[in-house]
Amino acid sequence: MKILLTGALGQIGSELAVKLRNLYGNDNIVLTDLRDDVNLDIIEGGPFIKTDSRDGKTLHEIIKKYRIERIYHLAALLSATSEKNPQTAWDINVNSLLTVLEIAREEGCSLFTPSSIGAFGPSSPKDYTPQDTIQRPTSMYGVTKVAGELLCDYYHHKYGVDTRGVRFPGIISNATPPGGGTTDYAVHIYYEAVKNRRYTCFLRGDTNLDMIYMPDALKAAVEIMEADPAKLRHRNAFNITAMSFCPEDQAGYIRAHIPEFEIDYDIDPVRQAIANSWPNSLEDYAARVEWGWSPDYDLESMTEDMLKVLTEKNRKGEI
Ligand code: NAD
Ligand code: SER
Repeated sequence: MKILLTGALGQIGSELAVKLRNLYGNDNIVLTDLRDDVNLDIIEGGPFIKTDSRDGKTLHEIIKKYRIERIYHLAALLSATSEKNPQTAWDINVNSLLTVLEIAREEGCSLFTPSSIGAFGPSSPKDYTPQDTIQRPTSMYGVTKVAGELLCDYYHHKYGVDTRGVRFPGIISNATPPGGGTTDYAVHIYYEAVKNRRYTCFLRGDTNLDMIYMPDALKAAVEIMEADPAKLRHRNAFNITAMSFCPEDQAGYIRAHIPEFEIDYDIDPVRQAIANSWPNSLEDYAARVEWGWSPDYDLESMTEDMLKVLTEKNRKGEI
């Protein structure tokens, strides 16, 4: 299987690249990103091309040259950055997706595109938000994610392109920091807990959101693309979740390991408004039934692992 990743140096891409290389072989995974100044070990571990995912001509040449069969299109702006640059967010999140869909159609590639909890809005049911429900997001990020889901469904129905995707919750990881999202606090809190024993959170303490630990997010990205297409009634995009919690809950679990840990709050109104418009928790029944989705980590086991990994990195001076 020959695979192309766009946005390969980001929070997800940098870890998905390693997982895909382990599964399918380094030479079969081609990475692209707008930048080439981070994650040098990943850049050096196999084919990497610096390019803008909106440059269809270059992407098309890469896909033909490497005989790409599957694309993971991860290049995008996250929610807080999108809210600061809404027109650029549309250009990157939607126009580059359309470019990639066209190439996938011409070259017969399957395509994974991540959607998000941000594809829901204030009029969606707040708790156990169903797979199929009202989607009227109020953030530009959400607007681009709903447009992306619809475009991917359209290319499947109209042209038979094998498009698949999941609505990722906030992703927590310890390799590459998140890049401008509303759920970033849930990653920062662990780094600060290990380094400084305290954290100032930009969301209110009682803000509940869905989250997932990176190993489960990677598992979902691989398993949905390997799933039997005959069983997929939904394609773009499946609700998935592993846990729902608020900053106060997370601080409590951290205190089980670091009793002196303190949290205080300095609310960012933009990110708080985005978070308020998103679900408290998702229902992920369709993913469980249609392709066997099941997460391995909950808040307790994720916290234990995050603190273990980051404590070791801190000891080595890596964070
Ligand atoms: P990230 O911001 O960490 O990484 C995105 C990468 O895309 C960056 O390396 C950036 O340089 C690259 N990029 C941006 N614009 C580009 C362009 N025009 N051309 C080429 N590369 C470009 O984001 P991430 O967290 O890895 O997210 C990847 C995807 O997953 C996005 O679609 C995002 O919406 C989705 N998602 C992420 C989360 C999360 O919590 N991380 C949750 C839900 C959905
Ligand atoms: N973690 C992402 C964000 O906050 C959700 O898609 O933007």
